[in-house]
Amino acid sequence: MYRSHTNGELRLSHKEETVTLAGWVQKSRDKGFMIWVDLRDRYGITQLIFDEERTPVEVMERAKSLGREFVIQIKGKVIERESKNANIPTGEIEILVEELEVLNAALVPPFTIEDKTDGGEDLRMKYRYLDIRRNPVKNKLVFRHKVTMEVRNFLSNQDFVEVETPYLIKSTPEGARDFVVPSRMNEGQFYALPQSPQTFKQLLMVGGMDKYFQIVKCFRDEDLRADRQPEFTQIDCEMAFVEQEDILDIFENLTRHLLKEINGVEVEKFPRMTYDDAMRKYGNDKPDIRFGMEFGELNEVAQHKDFKVFNEAELVVGIAVPNAANYSRKEIDKLIDWVKRPQVGALGMVYVKYNEDGSFKSSVDKFYAEEDLAQWAEQTNAKPGDLICVLSGETNKVRAQLSALRMEMAERLGLRDAKIFAPLWVVDFPLLEWDEETERYHAMHHPFTSPKVEDIPLLSTDPAKVKANAYDLVLNGNEIGGGSIRIHDKETQATMFDYLGFSEEEAKAQFGFLMDAFQYGAPPHGGLAFGLDRLVAILGGQETIRDFIAFPKNNAGRDVMIDAPAKIDEQQLKELHLKVELK
Ligand code: AMO
Repeated sequence: MYRSHTNGELRLSHKEETVTLAGWVQKSRDKGFMIWVDLRDRYGITQLIFDEERTPVEVMERAKSLGREFVIQIKGKVIERESKNANIPTGEIEILVEELEVLNAALVPPFTIEDKTDGGEDLRMKYRYLDIRRNPVKNKLVFRHKVTMEVRNFLSNQDFVEVETPYLIKSTPEGARDFVVPSRMNEGQFYALPQSPQTFKQLLMVGGMDKYFQIVKCFRDEDLRADRQPEFTQIDCEMAFVEQEDILDIFENLTRHLLKEINGVEVEKFPRMTYDDAMRKYGNDKPDIRFGMEFGELNEVAQHKDFKVFNEAELVVGIAVPNAANYSRKEIDKLIDWVKRPQVGALGMVYVKYNEDGSFKSSVDKFYAEEDLAQWAEQTNAKPGDLICVLSGETNKVRAQLSALRMEMAERLGLRDAKIFAPLWVVDFPLLEWDEETERYHAMHHPFTSPKVEDIPLLSTDPAKVKANAYDLVLNGNEIGGGSIRIHDKETQATMFDYLGFSEEEAKAQFGFLMDAFQYGAPPHGGLAFGLDRLVAILGGQETIRDFIAFPKNNAGRDVMIDAPAKIDEQQLKELHLKVELK
């Protein structure tokens, strides 16, 4: 038996018991005649005491050789501490050690294994297994487990069945690039790793599974950001014989359940907003509604004077930043520089100070009278003391820019409170999206999404206006899930592929299996997938998903611990019928 108790377990009630413990040496203090060691495992820390007078000589000697992170096993008696430590649950006791065995020595770790470490990000990633010994990382992994268990239990209790789907498949078009795997047995052919199990879950509906879920890895070769990893996890779900309302209902309940069980937060019915409204009011399809600063469109009240910049703009739009009218000239200039950064890309910013005394002072006083500016204030819902920030230009661009400014100001003003949870359904997404690069329409969600029946005639006249039965779940400004009602008949699916520019042969080659399946009694169906990493991070009060993943990739898509991706040898390349020509 390696241990009788864990290091987080012993209390004063165990006094006088003889126990066996195992773990890592967190630190040791050697006073010569007495040595204290903090012994750590996943459950906590227990203080060991080696005392010249009471501990056998050879044990005392061995204790002196212990270094940080040595793995040891001890046997000893639980005694009451003289100076108690109220900060840890085992702080009232210590173990007077009688036997000590070094199970494994350890090199000096490259950074301190403490809550606050001296290790930089790169070093910690290289030695991630040491980082995982630290509470902040360990606790996040345990937290993720808790969320995952809640999800599994909830869905299982609602009759969902977890079914595994294959990883070696053919391309699924979720909008990113595929990771591909060469086939040794089929020369010149490749599997693709799933960007999601989308087509398989639809086939499970044709197969009569009725309610499916899977906590599943998905793979997307896309540029990385704080909320994106090349391999990430979805809570993937699909249901048959449902309408959009049924799906929103079930997954709203799941989310509400998690908020309650995990965060102790009760949320009423989730608000809903159409995609068009989200774009108009927040310039963003995943608005953070924990705070206001809604957009005020100003074309009507700003395009009647000689200010050419505004007159020539497709959209003039502003937000009222609360209590920022007292920003100094220098602070405002800095803000203007901020919106002009290439990442935001605005050409400039007009501002209006709505002073506490009700007067206005703007950067365009030359063109606009106080009455004009008062109208701007009305449109942006500004109060005395606010700073109105106005951008102008091409509608989509200027909305994205103002949205970035809105989020930045919220961050600066401390309005993005991680303890507040503001979920939101964004509904009625457009079916199609114009892609400048390929000069073609793309499916905004994916090609299996059903258009709204009433919009089908628009497909041939004004495709951009066609709305889909597609929805996203947004939490605190993050898209944590998305889904749709699917097409379930062959003709509509074929029409859809046609609109997306697939030839009949291409559609058949890529998705013939799905369209075939639709001919054998496909039930109406729909579903959704949550991004588990994002969900866990946000419930955990953060937006960087990397911290909640045991072995994440860095921004270049590398695992710096195992040093992947890596070259493979000639022999392996040959077996795979691959020739690599390096540039
Ligand atoms: P979608 O592409 O919207 O839908 O993905 C669902 C959710 O997965 C999360 N997500 C990611 N998380 C981390 N890193 C990434 N690279 C990443 N990409 C996506 C997001 C997103 O909301 N098959 C459809 C679902 C359906 O229609 O049922 C799909 O995959 O939180």
